[in-house]
Amino acid sequence: MRSKTAPIPTCSDGMPMPEVALTCWLCGEGYDAGVLQTLCEDCHRPLRVNYDLSPSTLDRADLAGREENMWRYREVLPPCEPITLGEGFTPLRHAPRLGSNIWVKDESVNPTGSFKARGMSAAVSMAKKLGARRLAAPSAGNAAGALAAYAAAADLEAFVFMPQDTPQAFITECRVLGAQVELVDGLITDCGALVRERTQEMGWFDLSTLKEPYRVEGKKTMGYELAEQLNWSLPNAIIYPTGGGTGLVGMGKAFDEMEEMGWIGSDRPKMISVQAEGCQPIVTAFKNGERFADEHKNASTSASGLRVPKAVGDFIMLDLIRVTGGTALAVSDHDMISSCYELGAATGIFPAPEGGAAWAAAKQLLSEGSIKQTDQVVLFCTGSGLKYLEAFDA
Ligand SMILES: Cc1ncc(COP(=O)(O)O)c(C=O)c1O
Repeated sequence: MRSKTAPIPTCSDGMPMPEVALTCWLCGEGYDAGVLQTLCEDCHRPLRVNYDLSPSTLDRADLAGREENMWRYREVLPPCEPITLGEGFTPLRHAPRLGSNIWVKDESVNPTGSFKARGMSAAVSMAKKLGARRLAAPSAGNAAGALAAYAAAADLEAFVFMPQDTPQAFITECRVLGAQVELVDGLITDCGALVRERTQEMGWFDLSTLKEPYRVEGKKTMGYELAEQLNWSLPNAIIYPTGGGTGLVGMGKAFDEMEEMGWIGSDRPKMISVQAEGCQPIVTAFKNGERFADEHKNASTSASGLRVPKAVGDFIMLDLIRVTGGTALAVSDHDMISSCYELGAATGIFPAPEGGAAWAAAKQLLSEGSIKQTDQVVLFCTGSGLKYLEAFDA
């Protein structure tokens, strides 16, 4: 097992020390969960958080009456004092005007308006516990807003890097929340490179997607909630707008953990990844039968959360999509924006373009017959349209 140098800190809220182990998602190498960790030192791939799971870890019946946020699943979340703004337990809305079996998981009602709140709540809580004081991340917008908010709540410093054409609301939000904002002439990958370059000199802890182990732990609660809200069944298909892929990866992990605790059986929804035509590395790798995705060159889409040309967790997503009989497809910006109007008018939810992408993909799959009208389909509306007014104006 690899270890870094710092001593294991004690839990400030008196919770028992973690019964978690970290292993590389690709090569299986073990890492010390008592200190801040990033990627596997050998293969530079994400670390997975493993819990000691059995039916006695948490009985699903014990959830009744717990607080309605993601920390209701605390026994299977990072063992630390939660920095919480009330994230999670978002509504799962039936949307019969889109289709008799279409449901929308409305992540736009999270603090800071997107599902990124879940990941940052978990990651910032754990980073604080493990001694980080200055947090940095590259972002398409939503993750930066969430990091700024949770760092403020945790009394930590936040440094966020966003492409300079990121919608203005994200930039203003981060500044108001006290983060230091740097706008970069480039894509999120260029922002990530800047964070990497300066991390050591600045004393930052890098919270880039899947480059530390705990954001995905927050995101996985979407999977726990879905099962709980559907009375411990899972839908036939999940359509998820994919950038770095933490949501997909997290939900796949949640389903496996719930099975291990005896909460659900072995059936899984088809995990369907939707990307933008102008940035579709996962779709291309899926179609080419590859396990690792090449970088998408000249990435461009108004769904800024989907403008992720290269994802460090590509193989985890691609394995999951294949093993569940899912698929990956791309939609045009025009289709995703017009689908936002349809989704909005049929549900009352103002979706981010990424949410529109999920509905655009569903229509395509329903018309081809790869999803049946009788299938229960959950669309992930990952964020609010309120922060993307430029995309709608355009
Ligand atoms: C609204 C929205 N949806 C989807 C995504 C993609 O998320 P993931 O990194 O989990 O694939 C993002 C990422 O920024 C986003 O902001």
